[in-house]
Amino acid sequence: MSALLSLKNVWVEYGDKVVLEKVNLEVAEGAFLSIIGPSGAGKSSLLRLILGQETPTRGTILLDGQPLKPECGPDRGVVFQRYSVFPHMTVLGNVTFGLECPAAPFAARLFGTARRKAEAEATAMLEAVGLGDSLHLYPAQMSGGMQQRLAIAQALIKRPRILLLDEPFGALDPGIRADMHGLITRLWRDYSLTVVMVTHDIKEAFTLGTRVLALDKRRHDPHAPHRYGATAVYDLPLRGPPVPAPEPETAPEPVAATN
Ligand SMILES: Nc1ncnc2c1ncn2[C@@H]1O[C@H](COP(=O)(O)OP(=O)(O)O)[C@@H](O)[C@H]1O
Ligand SMILES: [Mg+2]
Repeated sequence: MSALLSLKNVWVEYGDKVVLEKVNLEVAEGAFLSIIGPSGAGKSSLLRLILGQETPTRGTILLDGQPLKPECGPDRGVVFQRYSVFPHMTVLGNVTFGLECPAAPFAARLFGTARRKAEAEATAMLEAVGLGDSLHLYPAQMSGGMQQRLAIAQALIKRPRILLLDEPFGALDPGIRADMHGLITRLWRDYSLTVVMVTHDIKEAFTLGTRVLALDKRRHDPHAPHRYGATAVYDLPLRGPPVPAPEPETAPEPVAATN
């Protein structure tokens, strides 16, 4: 099985500070990959790379065997810990907007039949995340858990294949978090998603993930803490779908980009 997403010798550097080094990662379609690691290890940076918001300073990222396009495409959706919804739009407006934007990029507004169709689609997605009764609320009128449900609906309305989650439940109370775990597991199955989730919560990583990746530094220079970056120090497959087998090493190493 070839990987949906493949990172080959990926580095992230800011000036002389190395954040990530030699990250090699193959993610199978349908996997639920949990990423853990200490604060500052580069977990969010790794998600930004997969999202296409940032490019690696060295190495290559392939999606379906093709170089990742430099912009965030509709094939990837993302949910952050908080503040990713538009506060001036209703719940329904927030999700419909995701359909309006690509359909009418200049006016970002749909009318008539097209608008009703978009609203029906957005309503169905909001029902799927449990917000069917809250279509006309504004984010400020909702709890943190409901706002994260909205953020998930917003990410999924474009029907991404990969859902990226950056500590999405970290700000929620434990009881609410358990509900969200049920929700995300159901959406992962129902929409055949590939999920990459960063979390601080090790139990969450192991409960939800089919695989857990730990990012940390392998080497430290006490005189120059910026000199070495983090990499995958543990990569634990827990249950199917399996980690794809590495490609046979027939082709020469790709030449590292040095932009
Ligand atoms: N744009 C940037 N310029 C310089 N340093 C950055 C930038 N973005 C992130 N960093 C640094 O990269 C390191 C990793 O950050 P981040 O990916 O947010 O870590 P994590 O999500 O694991 O806590 C941190 O030391 C952070 O200060
Ligand atoms: Mg982070």
